[in-house]
Amino acid sequence: MSQLTGIRACVFDAYGTIFDFASAAARCADIPDDKRAALTSLWRDKQLQYTWLRSLQGRYADFRQVTGDALDFTLDSLGIATPALRERLMDLYLTLSLFPEVPDTLRRLKEAGFVTAILSNGTPAMLDAAVRSAGLHDLLDAVLSADAVKIFKTHPRVYEYCLQQLGVQATEVSFQSSNAWDAYAASAFGMRVVWCNRYGQRRERLPGAPDHEVRSLAELPALLAPPG
Ligand code: LAC
Repeated sequence: MSQLTGIRACVFDAYGTIFDFASAAARCADIPDDKRAALTSLWRDKQLQYTWLRSLQGRYADFRQVTGDALDFTLDSLGIATPALRERLMDLYLTLSLFPEVPDTLRRLKEAGFVTAILSNGTPAMLDAAVRSAGLHDLLDAVLSADAVKIFKTHPRVYEYCLQQLGVQATEVSFQSSNAWDAYAASAFGMRVVWCNRYGQRRERLPGAPDHEVRSLAELPALLAPPG
């Protein structure tokens, strides 16, 4: 595969890309085993739906509230809602597991001279907790939250905020996300994009198109020409 050239910054989506959102339910003993997979899937889907719907309506609420609202919907739907379980899962969401290749990939990118950053819907407090819990703070030059612009991805204002904070042009960014809708939106915005298709999703019928598709972030460094 041809390398991306002119890249100065490698920017990553957080949930599903750096952090494994399924690890919250996986580490919660209080969920019936036959409802664990459904809980993770519905919680994630509802969380994203609420971000898109609130952005469309112009009724922003931060990602912690949206994540809690989506969890309430999910626990209610599965008939297992209790205050204790809700609190436990929301706490676990602050210390999600890393996907195994992440630390070494970030280390290789920083050694190669790239700026490394997260760009996420997560609130600053959520992201700080997850980054510290995972020990990533020394491997990231910036942790950027959509909360700064009070609207969620895929609104262009979020990707624009990233450029302003890093002092780069869109074509100087390689954006990585496991979420196809996010990858396509960043591409349509003008960033270069490596879609980390962890979940074997089909390609989207949306504006934009990732430059590369990988199954693991470990493949990323080989796709990038070293920064000039
Ligand atoms: C994020 C979610 C959308 O980190 O994965 O922004």
